[in-house]
Amino acid sequence: MENVIELKHPLIEHKLAILRDKTTGTKKFRELVSEIAMFLCYEALADAKLTKTEIETPIEKMQTGTINEDDYAFIPILRAGMGMLDGVITVFPNAKIGHIGMYRDETTFEPHNYFFKVPKDIEKREVIIIDPMLATGGSAIDAIDLLKSKGVKKIKFLCIIAAPEGLKAVVEKHKDVKIYCAHIDKKLNKNKYIVPGLGDAGDRIFGTK
Ligand code: PRP
Ligand code: URA
Repeated sequence: MENVIELKHPLIEHKLAILRDKTTGTKKFRELVSEIAMFLCYEALADAKLTKTEIETPIEKMQTGTINEDDYAFIPILRAGMGMLDGVITVFPNAKIGHIGMYRDETTFEPHNYFFKVPKDIEKREVIIIDPMLATGGSAIDAIDLLKSKGVKKIKFLCIIAAPEGLKAVVEKHKDVKIYCAHIDKKLNKNKYIVPGLGDAGDRIFGTK
């Protein structure tokens, strides 16, 4: 799966260990989701186009490059994706943000789209979808389908934990989408939760259970 990039780094494993721990409280959980999102963002922008620019340091003039933040849009999948937004905005302060609302039916595990609002020139931007969990891949596939139907040509997907089954499904349906994840876990359980995972990301971020 050449389009799947897993962050393999001791600092990420360290942060994931605290994030996954069931005794970790809401404040710490939110901070870690946000911090890991920063690292994912850093990795996903490794191929960013730089515009040549001349600046003057206190010592001399130099040729360097800057990223045009307007080339991008970030789209959290509601709700849990919102938890990653702080991290993205920290590294990308002028980021244009869209929102896609998806919930997974608790019995069929099928995703349902309930909200869609994106920047009006979305088809001209590279779109980076953010959602901490990629389980069956259904929510990711539907979000990507929706964006492609609006003319978006370049899409990346950032998640914190992914299941192999879901990654396979997304890669098969959307061969052109690069997926960045902090960790690929073992499998899904019978309720389609990621094992070992971290539980329900939305509930842990928003304290709803
Ligand atoms: C979670 C998660 C993903 C989705 C992943 O959201 O944040 O969006 O499940 O599952 P899938 O890969 O099987 O589609 P959920 O539907 O629980 O909604 P929430 O963010 O409102 O908690
Ligand atoms: N959604 C979550 O929040 N956690 C999972 O393990 C699967 C889907």
